[in-house]
Amino acid sequence: MSEVAFITGATRGIGKKIALTFAKEGYNICINYRKETDDLDVLKSEIEANNVKCLFVKADVSNFEECENAVKSIIEKFGQIDVLVNNAGITKDMLLARMKPEDFKSVLDVNLVGTFNVTKNVLPYMMKARSGRIINISSVVGISGNAGQTNYSASKAGIIGFTKSLAKEVASRNILINAVAPGFIETDMTNVLKPEIKEQIAKNIPLKRMGTAEDVANVVKFLASKDSSYITGQVINIDGGMLM
Ligand SMILES: NC(=O)c1ccc[n+]([C@@H]2O[C@H](COP(=O)([O-])OP(=O)(O)OC[C@H]3O[C@@H](n4cnc5c(N)ncnc54)[C@H](OP(=O)(O)O)[C@@H]3O)[C@@H](O)[C@H]2O)c1
Repeated sequence: MSEVAFITGATRGIGKKIALTFAKEGYNICINYRKETDDLDVLKSEIEANNVKCLFVKADVSNFEECENAVKSIIEKFGQIDVLVNNAGITKDMLLARMKPEDFKSVLDVNLVGTFNVTKNVLPYMMKARSGRIINISSVVGISGNAGQTNYSASKAGIIGFTKSLAKEVASRNILINAVAPGFIETDMTNVLKPEIKEQIAKNIPLKRMGTAEDVANVVKFLASKDSSYITGQVINIDGGMLM
């Protein structure tokens, strides 16, 4: 039986690229999504073209019960989850002076509590199997901070603390947990920036370009693979050298 990878928020952006990259590696793929779209059938065919199985599970990651049901349906179909990628995330940028309490809370609820909700439901199966990999998508701003992103950077810093603590809790069960911290990656999340702002950002990056979803997916693939079997509790920056 092929290994099973579960990726949250995987119908577009970085999550989708991770799902497609894992499918090429031969994993059966479970894609979490929040909204129904016409594109789901196209993505399913793209995944299955690699001769792997693909299951879509609907859940808002900020809702514990929905995550519980999503994990149950994966276990019903595949009986195991070998790799979990906590990728679903949102931004609601605003200077703190103007940030509404609900905009602070909702970003924490999706990015950080969502990571807890999914992990908490997946972990018992990995514990039983005495094996598993969890890769959490943090961000460089969780390390460096960023004006206008107190909510987002707090959530991403929280993910780093979560990753390290859980890595210590479950290392003895052969469950390896790491985080990646992408810099500026070209997706819908950064497409809200004006082209001239993006150009300015790229100029200040040592590698002189924004990253691609593929740049992130390749590192996540490594962290899920046997090649990284002596790495846990780490944060790997994928940022073209922005943060050194
Ligand atoms: N792009 C960057 O520069 C960058 C940099 C550092 C870190 N990251 C992180 O990388 C991850 C992916 O970002 P991206 O750039 O690919 O963003 P994106 O294009 O905006 O995609 C975000 C994905 O998360 C899903 N999602 C959002 N809220 C959800 C919820 N409550 N429950 C389930 N799914 C939910 C979205 O689903 P819908 O389609 O339903 O909205 C979408 O599939 C995020 O955690 C982000 O913080 C991105």
